[in-house]
Formats: sequence, structure tokens, C-alpha cells
Amino acid sequence: MQPFHTIIEPFRIKSVEALNFTTRDERIAALRRADHNVFKLRGDDVLIDLLTDSGTGAMSAAQWGALVQGDETYAGSRSFYRFEKAVRDLTGFTHVIPTHQGRAAERILFHTILSRGEIVPNNNHFDTTRANVEVEGAEARDLVVAEGRQPSLVHPFKGNIDVDALETLLAKDGDRVPVVMVTVTNNSGGGQPVSMTNLRAVRRLCTKYETPFFLDACRFAENAWFIKQREEGYAQKTPLEVAREMFRLADGCTMSAKKDGLANIGGFLAMNSDAWAERCRTLLILTEGFPTYGGLAGYDLEAIARGLEEVVEEPYLMYRIRSTEYLAEKISGAGVPIIQPPGGHAVYIDARAMLPHVPPLQYPGVALVNALYVEAGVRGVEIGTVMFGLQPDGVERPADMDLVRLAIPRRVYTQSHIDYVAEAVIHVSRMKERLRGLRVTSPPAVLRHFTASFDPLT
Ligand SMILES: Cc1ncc(COP(=O)(O)O)c(C=O)c1O
Repeated sequence: MQPFHTIIEPFRIKSVEALNFTTRDERIAALRRADHNVFKLRGDDVLIDLLTDSGTGAMSAAQWGALVQGDETYAGSRSFYRFEKAVRDLTGFTHVIPTHQGRAAERILFHTILSRGEIVPNNNHFDTTRANVEVEGAEARDLVVAEGRQPSLVHPFKGNIDVDALETLLAKDGDRVPVVMVTVTNNSGGGQPVSMTNLRAVRRLCTKYETPFFLDACRFAENAWFIKQREEGYAQKTPLEVAREMFRLADGCTMSAKKDGLANIGGFLAMNSDAWAERCRTLLILTEGFPTYGGLAGYDLEAIARGLEEVVEEPYLMYRIRSTEYLAEKISGAGVPIIQPPGGHAVYIDARAMLPHVPPLQYPGVALVNALYVEAGVRGVEIGTVMFGLQPDGVERPADMDLVRLAIPRRVYTQSHIDYVAEAVIHVSRMKERLRGLRVTSPPAVLRHFTASFDPLT
């Protein structure tokens, strides 16, 4: 038995970046200038930025060192081969295609393989994944298990896909399903993990119906950690062994290296199909660049190669998952409704439950995000009706859930920053009756949460 139980940040800090403190009045003015949409704030007006865990992590000294090794050769760069080897060692996929970020991998894959009227099942599509499916005239169908749609229900693998629903779809409309996707962890459903048993069941179905199976692997290491912690038979395996087993069940993946690549930019598309890979590379050359750099500098490829090794280290994953859990424990202990159990990369507040007086079409998530910013300078993000409510036919419907995601950047904030965030959330929850909804004044056609303007309702 160890005498100490505190899980500390498994790093020390070598280089710091000053935070910018603002007054409440300054934040009110900044939010007004941003049309009440925190995506339009200047970063300097934010104190603690939990908008996303994407590309916001701190790189290690080893990654910064690797940058200097970047080989900027246009074709056949040494850095590409290092990157390709790191991805292959992890995933086992034959073809490794670098892209500038995850959505570029999605765009290239879906534009290559999808036709109008086809269906892509997923546990939950992330917003860019959904948009890239729909732009091809195909349907993005979410098939997460029922437990995944009940915020307060505690279940170890709320990211699982509903295998029966998937089989029903494949049996009835299999000829219209060119690929089955599973997102690990399930970002839009609360950062919840998918079990190995579930991935195995998807593999079996995909083999039976001869349908390729792709992972949206952005947070594969966090998912592997949850499997190690929660699923029988995995406690003794290393996170890398678990991750490899996950990838070996699939035929390919899309990946944003801005998450579990521990890099500030980058991504990849990887797969076993020679035919698809050839067509994807052709499109890559058109939109991203030559197949050995895919929109990235040689030094980016180096940073990702190194990041993919660091992200599966046990001390890192233990600290990572614990710091998210720590924030969750503090705020739920104070009565704030959150998705239980907390996800790997973020704590999701159930804004619909917290603000029952704000109807979904008045965006309780945005009301809460904006109050957190005004009161404490903390920036979260709505994952709810603004993000998912606008249907392809132009009709607006409430999303399944109205959540506020507080995403924790990797290796950036310390425990005292997280203590401050907890205090801020609890402070806002004490004034919740005073929060009001909003209306959209300028509605962009796709991905409207990024650029929409709002007016607060009185
Ligand atoms: C599950 C998931 N898929 C895809 C993406 C898109 O990746 P990127 O932001 O690198 O384009 C994200 C980004 O947050 C994500 O969380």
C-alpha cells in the first residue's frame, strides 16, 4: 500500500503564460461585443478557458525538442515516416494519411465513400462529423444506448452504441450503410466511454453484414483508461495494450491529434482498405497537400508522433481522469446537476435540469455559459439545442439534452485553477433563478453555434 493518496500533476512547469484578469463590467461589455456568443470573445478576455480540450493542451519538453527535428522535405519527409510508424504501432492500420485536423479526415473519408441517401450510424456524431455526413446528402444516425441519454444515471459505459438498433438498421437498410462509426469517448454524449465488449459486438455485426467499421478515435487513450478501470479482464493491461485492442477491432479511424495526440494541431485518417485509401489520398492532394504531409509541417508530425506515445502513459492518464473527476465531485457535491459519471475530458452540467424555467428553445445551455463568463471569466460551451437543434429541413427542435461542457485542456491548469472553476459554478448555481434565455438573431445554416448572434430575453 502506498502511504500517499494525492494524485499530483505528473509534471513540473518550465514555462508559464500569464492570465489576464478582467472586471465583471469589462466582461459584460466583451460579451455584448461578442453578440452574446462566447465563441466570438477574444481569448484575452477569458480567465480560465474551458471552451475545448482541442488543440489547447501543453506540449512536453520532449515534444518541443522533437519540433526542432522536424524535416520539412515536401515529399517523403523523415518526420512523416516517424509519424506513420507511431500511428501504425498504435493502430495497426496499413494506410496512414495525415490531415490538418480531425474534421479534414472526416471530410475526406465521407466525400470519398458516401452518396446521397446513405446512412452513417454512430453512438453520437460529433458536430463536425454530423455536418460532414449531412453535407454529402447522407443521414447521420445516433444510436447511443438508452443509458447514454439519461444524464444522472450512473453506468460505466454510457458511450456504448445500441447493438440491437444497429443490427436492425444493418438488416433492413445495410445496403445504404457504407460505414459504421463509433466515437471513443463519446464527446457529444458527455465524454462517456465505450466498452471493449461493445466494440467487439460492433465488429461482429460489421463482419456479418460486410460493412467497414471506423472509430472516431479522438480520445482513444481516455477510453482505454476507462476500460482498464471499469471492464473485467483489463486491470492488468497497460493503456497502450487496451488501446491497441480497440483499434484492432476496427477497419480504420478518423483522428484529431488535437485531443489524445497531445498536439496543438493535426489529425489523421487511417485504414486497411487499399481502394478507399487510394481515393482518399487523391482527394487529400486536392485539399490538404501531398500524402506525406497532409496540411501539416514536418514539426507538427514530430509533435504528434511523440504525443501519441506520451498520452498512453499511466501517470498521465491517472492524473487526467482524476482532475476531471475532482471538478465533478466538487460541483455535484454542491447540488449542481451533471452527467454522471463524469466524462474523461470534461464535466457536463445538465443545464436543462439546472434551469427548468428556461425552455430548450431559449437555450438554457447558452444562458448558463454566458453567466459563468460574466461572473467568473470562465468560458465553457453549450452542447445542446443551439449545437444540434437545427434540422437539415430548417426546423428547430430541442436537442436530446441541453448541456454545458467544461472541457479541461491537457496539462494546462493546476488544482487551484480547478478549485476556482468549482467555486464559480457553485456561485452561478446559487443565482440560477435570475438567469434568462436568449433568442438567435442571425442563424448561420450549418454549425451555427460557432457564429450565431444572440439577444438575451428579459
Ligand atoms: C469526437 C470528435 N470528433 C471529431 C472532432 C473534430 O476534430 P477537429 O476539431 O480536430 O477538426 C472533434 C473535435 O472536438 C471531436 O470531439
